[in-house]
Amino acid sequence: MSMKLAVFNTHSYDKAFFEQANNGFGLDISFFEPRLTVETVKLAEKYPAVCAFVNDVVDREVIEQLAKGDTKLIALRSAGYNNVDLAAAKQYDINVANVPAYSPESVAEYTVGMMLTLNRKIHRAYNRVKESNFALNGFIGFDFHNRTVGVIGTGRIGTAVVKIMHGMGCRVLAYDPVQNEACLELGVNYVGLPELLAESDVITLHCPMTEDNYHIIDEKAVKAMKDGVMLLNTSRGGLIDTDAVIAGLKSGKISNLGLDVYENEKPLLYDDHSNELLLDDVLGRLLTFPNVLITGHQGFFTEDALSAIASTTLYNVKCFYENKTSGNEL
Ligand code: NAI
Repeated sequence: MSMKLAVFNTHSYDKAFFEQANNGFGLDISFFEPRLTVETVKLAEKYPAVCAFVNDVVDREVIEQLAKGDTKLIALRSAGYNNVDLAAAKQYDINVANVPAYSPESVAEYTVGMMLTLNRKIHRAYNRVKESNFALNGFIGFDFHNRTVGVIGTGRIGTAVVKIMHGMGCRVLAYDPVQNEACLELGVNYVGLPELLAESDVITLHCPMTEDNYHIIDEKAVKAMKDGVMLLNTSRGGLIDTDAVIAGLKSGKISNLGLDVYENEKPLLYDDHSNELLLDDVLGRLLTFPNVLITGHQGFFTEDALSAIASTTLYNVKCFYENKTSGNEL
């Protein structure tokens, strides 16, 4: 039996890493460029397994159509799955699998890269020097050594961040309902959210987005932070109330903001919009701040991560065809 897989939202790099990984699996893969949406779901007809990414639309309507076309598995090539209506998938008897762990270091190292860039204004220095401007005014940073870093969510990625920050000589506070043994061993102090917000010089988000923590960083949370705090979000855009954070930037409460994710990123992600007008005024405002660094959800984008993602995704699909559990079912 041929093991068919329809991969949506395919970029050249997805194809390259999937084809390489498929040497070990022998699946019959069709690559489709469009994102999975209600308009494109027809392409999945007669594919028992469909592969989607974080910016694909896998809502009830799409799931209903997938079920009509005999799809039985949605194999996400991502860790996050907040874009999938799991209840609808269950109702239509469609399995959903994800890639829970692929190089947590990829996102952790990227996050620390954002911290260092913002702190030492490397993004601005790059442009200045290109214009033969070697002035340093406005570029004063601080030593991370001895500063307090607050990590919200100490799962795989959060723990990898903790290890790096610990190595840099920081005091690390963490907030997570589940305490992580490796973090405790490094001397991380688990505290309540109010204490973490009040004491941290740098706050970084590494929890998944759930119904309970939507806008965990809201106006109240921003007010509770230290003056001049640096805030990073490389997890999910919806964890931050962007208007509240813009107010915090305007008042000087937030001195630096690094975002690899943004709550309204979906229509923009992974495509070139440079010939269009930017109609998102909130993003437009964010882009005016010199102390805000925004990137387009690329924390995971290393060759190590892409190859791990491709092999785990194909493993999940193969297990599905062989009626085995992969352990990555949601
Ligand atoms: P994980 O599942 O290993 O860890 C998540 C941790 O967050 C767990 O320890 C959990 O107890 C904790 N948590 C859950 N709700 C919380 C809350 N309200 N407050 C504090 N802690 C809470 O997940 P992992 O692999 O570390 O990934 C974390 C998130 O990073 C993912 O859910 C995803 O949103 C994001 N991510 C971003 C990527 C990027 O390219 N920027 C790539 C991969 C993941």
